[in-house]
Amino acid sequence: MDFSLTDEQRLMRETARRFTDNEIVAAAKQNARDQRFDLDLVRKIADQGYLGAIVPREYGGAGLDYLSYGLIVEEVGRGDSAMRTVISVQTSLVCSAILRWGTEEQKHHYLPKLCSGEWLGCFGLTEPDTGSDAANQRTRATKTDDGWSISGAKMWISMGNTAKVALIFAQTDPAKKHKGVACFLVDTDQDGYQPSEIHGKMGLHASDTAAISLDDVRATDDQLLGEVGDGFKIAMSALDSGRFSVASGCVGICQGCLDESVSYAKERVQFGRPIASFQLVQAMIAEMRVKTDAARMLTWRAGWLKDTGQPNTTETSIAKYFATEAAVWCANEAIQVHGGAGYVDDHPVERYFRDVRVTTLYEGTSQIQKLIIGRAETGINALVPTAAA
Ligand code: CAA
Repeated sequence: MDFSLTDEQRLMRETARRFTDNEIVAAAKQNARDQRFDLDLVRKIADQGYLGAIVPREYGGAGLDYLSYGLIVEEVGRGDSAMRTVISVQTSLVCSAILRWGTEEQKHHYLPKLCSGEWLGCFGLTEPDTGSDAANQRTRATKTDDGWSISGAKMWISMGNTAKVALIFAQTDPAKKHKGVACFLVDTDQDGYQPSEIHGKMGLHASDTAAISLDDVRATDDQLLGEVGDGFKIAMSALDSGRFSVASGCVGICQGCLDESVSYAKERVQFGRPIASFQLVQAMIAEMRVKTDAARMLTWRAGWLKDTGQPNTTETSIAKYFATEAAVWCANEAIQVHGGAGYVDDHPVERYFRDVRVTTLYEGTSQIQKLIIGRAETGINALVPTAAA
């Protein structure tokens, strides 16, 4: 077993680290305060090639392996989860779905513009009444003479206000349940597509998060991704990539909490000596290090499985579950190490704490990840009622 990174992967990580420190960390605090979705910064991220990292070069991407992609996402996640969310949604949810399920025409039409950042994309799966039960889509797609009419509502959609193309999941035939779901590449420049910014979020203040109303939104047959009925599988396979990306970002948060805590504990003097010398502070730091390493190893394993073409849904859920919970824990402990100083945004741990909370919710809650893992272990789907013995 070889845990070492290749020279190219190390270089990729170093470059992402420098870029994050110079561009992302520098802007994160003010963007969060201003509740500003920083499109100039998104442009710089795109120029680095991070929006299409795993997309082959022939479609305008960087053609990287998953492990390299994860290293980049980890660094950006350490800098700012709002910007990391842009990479996760654009690359993992939108580009990976088009890459896997799109026709050659669709790939050549959409991917270069998404990889270059000319267009942003969003992933319209969640609805006001459809969260964990993603198969139960209330949005309806009805066949028309020249294509489709889509009506319904979407909720909690990252980049829903700024996206030029929206992957919209909709039910075509409720009797068919998940086998009736279709996925459309919807052009957002039409009257029926009405996004609105969601205000009052606990964290990710520098992120664009939308509620979307869909009223007779039109799509042609060419804008159908996959076949009618493939929609649910498209969503699940995209989430296999998205959950890896969220896990990678959370490894970055864990590392950021650890770095900030060590640095602060060595400077902060109480009882005549740096608090880093106290055993109870060292215990918090040691546990942060252990969780960070474990989260990173589980995430790298999921990336390696993807790179070697092996099944990885369960291992991705394990990584997502562990890394997000570890990051929530580390952010909480990091504030404890900082004491009162961690309660204001002079230190990044305050933002880590607020931003990290959503990661155990979006792209599948921790409970959903446990059910996926539990099903893989037992062979029993806990979501399907079983007949009494
Ligand atoms: N890849 C491909 N196909 C898959 C798959 C995968 N990873 N997982 C399941 N499928 C297929 C199954 O093989 C099955 O196919 P058949 O019909 O041919 O048998 C079909 O999908 C149905 O599978 P399940 O029976 O497992 O489906 P389920 O209804 O029991 O649901 C679930 C499973 C795991 C609970 C799923 O609904 C789920 O993941 N829910 C959470 C939804 C979620 O993560 N939402 C996040 C929204 S995105 C977001 O947050 C974006 C943002 O903007 C930040």
